[in-house]
Amino acid sequence: MTDLSALETRLAAEIDAASDEAALETIRVAALGKKGEISELLKGLGRMSPEERREEGPKLNGLRDRIAERLAARREALADAAIAARLTAEAVDVTLPVRSSPVSRGRIHPISQVIDEITAIFADMGFSIAEGPDIETDYYNFTALNFPEGHPAREMHDTFFLKPDANGERKVLRTHTSPVQIRTMQAQKPPIRIVIPGKTYRQDSDATHSPMFHQVEGLVIDRTANVANMKWVLEEFCKAFFEVPSLKMRFRPSFFPFTEPSLEVDIQCDRSGSEIRFGEGTDWMEILGCGMVHPNVLRNCGLDPDEYQGFAWGMGIDRIAMLKYGMPDLRAFFDADVRWVEHYGFRPLDVPTLFGGLSS
Ligand code: DAH
Repeated sequence: MTDLSALETRLAAEIDAASDEAALETIRVAALGKKGEISELLKGLGRMSPEERREEGPKLNGLRDRIAERLAARREALADAAIAARLTAEAVDVTLPVRSSPVSRGRIHPISQVIDEITAIFADMGFSIAEGPDIETDYYNFTALNFPEGHPAREMHDTFFLKPDANGERKVLRTHTSPVQIRTMQAQKPPIRIVIPGKTYRQDSDATHSPMFHQVEGLVIDRTANVANMKWVLEEFCKAFFEVPSLKMRFRPSFFPFTEPSLEVDIQCDRSGSEIRFGEGTDWMEILGCGMVHPNVLRNCGLDPDEYQGFAWGMGIDRIAMLKYGMPDLRAFFDADVRWVEHYGFRPLDVPTLFGGLSS
């Protein structure tokens, strides 16, 4: 005959020692489950004589009820303890100062802001954005852009060359965004209207030059694009970007291997006060280079210069960001100083649009 009181003592001790819901469930199954110890004993009642049954029945039923109650009580105690532990762990000190959210603390870097402004303006004119690799071949960075072998213009770019690879080819860090013109013309058919923002690299470093800087390039190719179209696009861009209603521009002859004719563009400004103002005054500020795409460049991209023509331009993003937002030293752009970004940066939810305002 099983010693019921020993069984009860053991089960009670196990229940009290159970540290979680899962342990408690294991004990319940072992005692009261289909094949549990107490269930097996209860099944034995059927084989007993009526007298024995009258004697053992109440004892076994009592044991089953007490164990079931003890299980329920322990389950409740564990649940209460879990809630109490959570309450302590998740306690909030309401006297602490409020921590500002990432959206109110974070800032958009002026370069990212200006790229967003530029792309918003050109997207509105029907341009799309193109990008290319920072590490370029000599072919895309120079040769395809009509820089002759050994031409001094290659030296003017103060190029960073990479070590020669297994085939003896020396890749370069692109010195301008112009190689993406070639990649785009090789990959898609005209009409092409793209702007190409991106990082560029030259061995140069002072208050207004950084070895890594940003350019934005534009390219239009179709059957009729001409200098007048180019002047209009650039004038509309400058007015929108500097947020002025009118602005005089001056186009001066220049030289780039990939354009013919080549022009440099100055915009009207006033330097008489403490800050520079655009669209007023009698001074000029050089802002970009441009020209009609050279027939050799079109040919290098498999386009027939008798059928297609177009214009292109390129400008430094960092410089126009400095001019527009009055930042004196370019090197601070890339210092990753949080205080500088907090001062000169832009709020992340103020997305530049032409209708909502570029910079406000
Ligand atoms: N790639 C030139 C530079 O880095 C800028 C430039 C000038 C780009 C004239 C052009 C262009 O597309 O037409 O100095």
